[in-house]
Amino acid sequence: MAEKKAQLSVDGIEETIDLPVYEGSTGPDVVDVRSLTSKGIFTYDPGFMSTASCESKITYIDGDKGVLLYRGYPIEQLAEKSDFMECCFLLLNGELPSVDEKAQFIDEIKHHTMVHEQIRPFFNGFPRHAHPMAIMIGAVGALSAFYHNDLQIDNIEHRKAAAVRLIAKIPTLAAMCYKYSIGMPFMHPRNDLSFSENFLYMMFGNPCEEYIPSPVLADAMDKIFLLHADHEQNASTSTVRLAGSTGANPYACISSGITALWGPSHGGANEAVLTMLNEIGDVSRIPEFIDRAKDKEDPFKLMGFGHRVYKNFDPRAHVLRDAANNVLEELGLTNDPLLPIAKELERIALEDEYFIERNLYPNVDFYSGIILKAIGIPTNLFTVIFATGRTPGWVAHWHEMISNPFKIGRPRQLYTGPTFRDYPDK
Ligand code: CMC
Repeated sequence: MAEKKAQLSVDGIEETIDLPVYEGSTGPDVVDVRSLTSKGIFTYDPGFMSTASCESKITYIDGDKGVLLYRGYPIEQLAEKSDFMECCFLLLNGELPSVDEKAQFIDEIKHHTMVHEQIRPFFNGFPRHAHPMAIMIGAVGALSAFYHNDLQIDNIEHRKAAAVRLIAKIPTLAAMCYKYSIGMPFMHPRNDLSFSENFLYMMFGNPCEEYIPSPVLADAMDKIFLLHADHEQNASTSTVRLAGSTGANPYACISSGITALWGPSHGGANEAVLTMLNEIGDVSRIPEFIDRAKDKEDPFKLMGFGHRVYKNFDPRAHVLRDAANNVLEELGLTNDPLLPIAKELERIALEDEYFIERNLYPNVDFYSGIILKAIGIPTNLFTVIFATGRTPGWVAHWHEMISNPFKIGRPRQLYTGPTFRDYPDK
């Protein structure tokens, strides 16, 4: 029973409605409005600006303070001391693994990285120039066709198997998208490499010569995966939960998350950043684009700036800004022509009144795009990298929802269309 309560009076309803208020372990209180429907009222919150759609113990964000915690651990500490595999375990299980648990988890992931050979011909149905996100949506959803016998969502073992398969196979599919697009043979995963080294190997290795993944690049990839691993109830995670609330299988649910991630307001922004930097082309043209970003008549936005939740700074962007500098220095790419444009854009945006007033700061995608380009990842694969990193988060949320009592997600609406009318006699 909640101790706090809110009271609501609505014109036309005589009684004052008492609503319970719940406190989380941290963060804003929530008003439980579930009883309102029985009074004939809905709440109205397009874009879910003020709506807590679920209870969760996985990730916490304080947008004003720039805080992001996975299971309580701050992202900066995880980026410095942990790695992606450990964070996957943490997100899925709630606690950091012991040394043995971590080794066992990594071993399990490694032994599920191969995809069924029948997936290979599936690629041939796509044009070579297909957007890799289009292929990922199809290929990840299609995985469900290969695991018919493990799709009972109320069976914990089936759920665990799906979690491991999704985290293990999505990078393999991502690399296959790239190899397919350039007409190179698919590379089978290698179990002697770490998760991120193996990803680089599947991307850039070829059967004719030895490929030794660079530790600097593998480390940068790992950081990118780790920083993207979860972000509480963002659009794609909410999509996964909504799809999951119908009882749909996990592969279908994660495929729906990939679909939502593709949009340029969400994961597609990292690709859009590079497209924008290329379009700007030269530092001298930046003022023109800044003016366009401010113009209400122009739909153009500065890609990689702003965030729905972070209104001070994006802590992931802070970590990646440093990583970006290291990678570029390490690769001797500090004379990349896009870099001065990115730096100047960042400087102007941080000093310009328009951006300051609206709390528009560079977000994670601004820097991840620069790092991924330096590593040699093609621009249209950027959002696939985001999806690979976000998979443990999606799976953890899906698993959390299914492990607890849940209802099908079914929002209501404020209807403003025509009222009842008879079909005209003709
Ligand atoms: N460039 C120029 N103006 C902007 C931008 C931008 N990138 N972002 C927001 N604004 C303005 C917006 O026009 C509005 O101005 P006004 O108050 O005068 O009407 C004000 O700032 C508030 O913006 P909003 O659109 O109401 O904010 P939102 O919370 O609905 O949208 C956002 C957040 C991330 C969708 C938006 O900032 C955006 O489109 N940014 C560019 C795309 C991007 O980088 N997305 C990646 C997000 S981080 C990765 C992830 O987690 O998915």
